[in-house]
Amino acid sequence: MLAFDHSRDRAVQNMFDRIARRYDLLNRVISFRLDSWWRNQAIKAVLTVPNPLILDLGAGTGDLTFAAAKAAQGNGRIVGLDFSLQMLRLAQEKKSRAPQGDNTFFVLGSALLAPFKDAVFDGVMTAFVLRNVSDLSLLFAHAFRVLKPGGKFVSLDMFPPSKGWFSILYGFYFYRLVPWLGGLLAGDRDAYKYLSESVRQFHPPETVATAIEQAGFERVTIQRFLRGAVCMHVGEKSIHSARNA
Ligand SMILES: C[S@@+](CC[C@H](N)C(=O)[O-])C[C@H]1O[C@@H](n2cnc3c(N)ncnc32)[C@H](O)[C@@H]1O
Repeated sequence: MLAFDHSRDRAVQNMFDRIARRYDLLNRVISFRLDSWWRNQAIKAVLTVPNPLILDLGAGTGDLTFAAAKAAQGNGRIVGLDFSLQMLRLAQEKKSRAPQGDNTFFVLGSALLAPFKDAVFDGVMTAFVLRNVSDLSLLFAHAFRVLKPGGKFVSLDMFPPSKGWFSILYGFYFYRLVPWLGGLLAGDRDAYKYLSESVRQFHPPETVATAIEQAGFERVTIQRFLRGAVCMHVGEKSIHSARNA
């Protein structure tokens, strides 16, 4: 696993600050709005108890946080953590318009420090963040630490799809067209070039699953969408777990 690299984290933080204003629009365009459906799958997996307190690591502009608050129907509280002030500013702006937005709370901070007490959250989720962090095992260790025994950790992220006709089409779209769209719609081709390269260079989903297990999670599963271009990992913190990170 990679070492905790502050300069890389700082570069990622600056990049998300830069593209924040256009982030939601680009997300919808690039994913053909499928991102909302994937988020809902993650939320179904993480909401396991009534009145849950859920943590969203790398919440960005809050789409997963808000969708979880809506799904909890006013019965839960969802905390979104992110280290990009500009992404969180937008989340804060969207909060007043979002259904059950009053049940969402945003915190500026690093997912690699997770400034929360041990075993306080009923569920921990994260979407499209793993490729951006300099130390995956540290993120998983903190997710494990802040989760209550019996709680679930759910991650959604992008991976290179399995080989075949779809991966050829995907390669053209994601590695060539998306940076161009990023230049056109967000005025930042480099940021979207980084996005597609971060997928190309990411670990296979099985390696990510192993890192999740190594953090202490059990019954780790991988669910593949779009021939593996998006994967959802789910892990449980055993009810008998005495171990914290
Ligand atoms: C691709 S965006 C995803 C945002 C949101 N989860 C979503 O589904 O739209 C990645 C987010 O992770 C945040 N991020 C990346 N590394 C982080 C870290 N180490 N600590 C906190 N936030 C981080 C970025 O600032 C950015 O807002």
